Amino acid sequence: MIVRENCGKINPERIEEYIAAGGYEALAKVVLNLTPEEVIAEVSASGLRGRGGGGYPTGLKWATVAKMPTGQKYVICNADEGDPGAFMDRSVLESDPHRVLEGMAIAAYAVGANHGYIYIRAEYPLAIDHLQTAIKQAKRHGLMGSQIFGSPFDFKVDIRVGAGAFVCGEETGLIASIEGKRGVPRPRPPYPAVSGLQSEPTLINNVETYANIAPILQKGGEWYASIGTEDSKGTKIFALTGKVENAGLIEVPMGITVRCIVEEMGGGIPDGGTVKAVQTGGPSGGCIPAEKLDTPVSYKSLLELGTMMGSGGMIVMDDKTSMVDVAKFYMEFCREESCGKCIPCRAGTVQLYGLLNKLLNGHGTTRDLELMENLCYMVKETSLCGLGQSAPNPVISTLRYFRDEYEALIPS
Ligand SMILES: Cc1cc2nc3c(=O)[nH]c(=O)nc-3n(C[C@H](O)[C@H](O)[C@H](O)COP(=O)(O)O)c2cc1C
Ligand code: SF4
Repeated sequence: MIVRENCGKINPERIEEYIAAGGYEALAKVVLNLTPEEVIAEVSASGLRGRGGGGYPTGLKWATVAKMPTGQKYVICNADEGDPGAFMDRSVLESDPHRVLEGMAIAAYAVGANHGYIYIRAEYPLAIDHLQTAIKQAKRHGLMGSQIFGSPFDFKVDIRVGAGAFVCGEETGLIASIEGKRGVPRPRPPYPAVSGLQSEPTLINNVETYANIAPILQKGGEWYASIGTEDSKGTKIFALTGKVENAGLIEVPMGITVRCIVEEMGGGIPDGGTVKAVQTGGPSGGCIPAEKLDTPVSYKSLLELGTMMGSGGMIVMDDKTSMVDVAKFYMEFCREESCGKCIPCRAGTVQLYGLLNKLLNGHGTTRDLELMENLCYMVKETSLCGLGQSAPNPVISTLRYFRDEYEALIPS
């Protein structure tokens, strides 16, 4: 384990225990001995990719912010965690908040920022409480504030609490929300790295991404890059749920097979049932059918199967599950969470939900199926932000592998 190595072992409300476990050593090393360029080189060498869903190379994002002219810059930690069933970030924040603060401070040093924000959903009161305590303790120990470790580096962190709208996890919507505006996305470019919070260069990373930083700086990018696959380095936390014996969080090296996660670690389906599919990537993702369970988990391999890593939700479905029902569940979620700013997503998710419902009620026609497919591609290609662009994915993916289930619903 890398990210969750301290979870359950140290008291998250005592900074002394984090420090005793080697905490803040990486920050000391960075601030006292490394240049920002050296820090970014180490993160780039690690091959770490953003854990918030998109999988963008972290080192590259940091380099883009660092290259922007000196002046006010910000770092943001995205702790919105809106995927249904996901609680990876929550567990890290609740059980090891200093790990995230240390990662943010290292990032701030590397990109030239002195102010950070953690955007966290109000539904996570314990995580907010532990973060507030951690920030107070870090300040008291001189690990946050002015002249950290006696160096010219200053850094402070503020918490902003979101009301739990899924779209506020999208980076431009999140920034608008921190600015006190309605949390709706805006077109990119400009990307936040160039023009983010208050139109200043802003680095935005996910909780799990930041939680990987201290070990990378302590043990080296090469060490981190030795774990995982060619395109996906390190470990990933998954929230394993659904029809599985051992539901819960697991942190596994990238490259492990889906079968190993579901059958060995998850203990398989209860009462001897069989796996029909595994859904990954939440409402933006798709499903892996049983015959593909030997696929290694990596950004590339999951995309090839028509799904995605996402933030780490993994839902196991057994042979009794209706895949059309699964698609309807996610479409209902996207319909509810669409911010309504652009028509393809606002109206398209309603139409797609209606068509799925019609099929499930036994009133669908072959023409509805065709219409639904066309609508999926239209919504994907014309929506403004990632929510609409990926909302049709669960339908496309279930149509790809389980078309017979859709066709069986059409009365002859
Ligand atoms: C609808 C939507 C919701 C998102 N929700 C989250 C979220 O809850 N947490 C998160 O870290 N990223 C979320 N993202 C991705 C962010 O926009 C952004 O890419 C991410 O925070 C960048 O961090 P990373 O590079 O460390 O992954 C969401 C994106 C979309 C389109
Ligand atoms: S795609 Fe959906 S969520 Fe995104 S801006 Fe358009 S309406 Fe809002």
